[in-house]
Amino acid sequence: MEKNGVVVFVTRTGHARQLAELIQKETGFPAAEIGDRVSRKGFFGYMKAGFQAVAKKATPITDPAISLSDKKIVILVQPIWASSVVPPLRTWLQSHANELQGKKTALLVTNKGGPVDKLKIAFETEFWPLAALASISENTDESERLSIVRAFLASL
Ligand SMILES: Cc1cc2nc3c(=O)[nH]c(=O)nc-3n(C[C@H](O)[C@H](O)[C@H](O)COP(=O)(O)O)c2cc1C
Repeated sequence: MEKNGVVVFVTRTGHARQLAELIQKETGFPAAEIGDRVSRKGFFGYMKAGFQAVAKKATPITDPAISLSDKKIVILVQPIWASSVVPPLRTWLQSHANELQGKKTALLVTNKGGPVDKLKIAFETEFWPLAALASISENTDESERLSIVRAFLASL
């Protein structure tokens, strides 16, 4: 695997952050959070997340402003919201699309165990091919999580 990469993540309740930190530990890549500027708390926040994901919205973010120019691999980590690219990640991808050309993009998702095949199609239709995709259900234990992450990284 290339030595030079970065981890970029979005999270609502912290699971994606844990996975991003695990990748950071395994690779030494810096991890940066895309700040979600839409309130997603409570029932209405949850519903809004689902609607905006399905409607393919690009919603306001706080951009972590990480340097991408010297990076060969970009590992994205997001929760699954209705089988979709989450809106804050979409905003980030759109605003950095030019800089991301020619880099390996991989996607790791946290979910409640639902399928990810639709997300792969959705991502690749809207953006570009993924070098790797893996999913880890929230209730996966630590050793299983580590082995999925290691296999995911080894495939890059
Ligand atoms: C609006 C919304 C839709 C979701 N849809 C799915 C889904 O289709 N399949 C699934 O397995 N989990 C789904 N989830 C659960 C999240 O993917 C899961 O809780 C994830 O681990 C949360 O990550 P986070 O803590 O980083 O926000 C959904 C969550 C939200 C808020």
